Amino acid sequence: MITGKTNVVGVIGDPVEHSLSPIMHNAAFNHLKLDYVYVAFHVKKGMAKEAIEAMKTFNIKGLNVTIPHKVRILKYIDEIDETAKLIGAVNTLKLEKGKVWGFNTDGIGCVRALEEVTNLKGKNVIILGAGGASRAITFQLASSNVGSLHILNRTPENAKKIAEDIKEKLGIKVFAGGLEHLKEKIGDADILINTTPVGMYPNIDARPLATADILHENLIVKDLVYNPPQTRLLKEAEKAGAKTISGIKMLVYQGAESFKIWTGKEAPTSIMEKAILKTIR
Ligand code: ATR
Repeated sequence: MITGKTNVVGVIGDPVEHSLSPIMHNAAFNHLKLDYVYVAFHVKKGMAKEAIEAMKTFNIKGLNVTIPHKVRILKYIDEIDETAKLIGAVNTLKLEKGKVWGFNTDGIGCVRALEEVTNLKGKNVIILGAGGASRAITFQLASSNVGSLHILNRTPENAKKIAEDIKEKLGIKVFAGGLEHLKEKIGDADILINTTPVGMYPNIDARPLATADILHENLIVKDLVYNPPQTRLLKEAEKAGAKTISGIKMLVYQGAESFKIWTGKEAPTSIMEKAILKTIR
């Protein structure tokens, strides 16, 4: 029941009405009987400063931040955590003692989902795409003892920019190039992560690879696309004998990290996953 004492958390973005975060977090709060409610706030582009002021004014304890505010909101935040600073974007805010703290749980969410099925040490990883999610994940993996990292992207310059930043900030070498390198690199790869929107509803027949015959059984294939939960890439990877991880896991695990930042408690990830699957099926 919502009372005068209920803690308010939520998500700000534009668009925001299709966000699955309210469903996933409210299911978790109900399950653990925590006095929190999670709502979606439609905050238009250019209104990040006002959103931070509103967070303080209304005593909103936590916020997720999504498109288009993840980078632009940085300059209005009081304290930014080291990982978010490295990545250059936030997806989670916490109000504590009148100050707004910024975090980024996208990378750690992805790493947790991978660690559920494998030990990352020494693994060769290929990341497709060079947008915000790719950046967060590549930075996190670069700090996770993996063997090698390759970012391949439609626009190679965008991949190179991430690789240069990682070299400068972490001193770690990352290969960056165009998608044409996939064929030569995938044979030695252990993990393939798709961070592009290719395959997302309604274009469910698309896949981020030119052909599926390069997929092999020693791969773990992770897709960030979660609608549909079984993308064409994942179906074909499964057929090739590879292990697959659905985009739902990333959604749940980045949310679980935010949940922990706000409540100090471990999130009930299987309850969150069930709530999402029930909604999108
Ligand atoms: P996010 O920030 O959420 O990760 P994004 O900024 O839209 O998402 O980034 C998506 C990535 O997927 C980009 O690297 C984009 O390639 P470009 O850098 O060339 O723009 C890539 N991408 C988007 N649509 C694509 C497509 N149809 N084929 C291949 N790559 C695509």
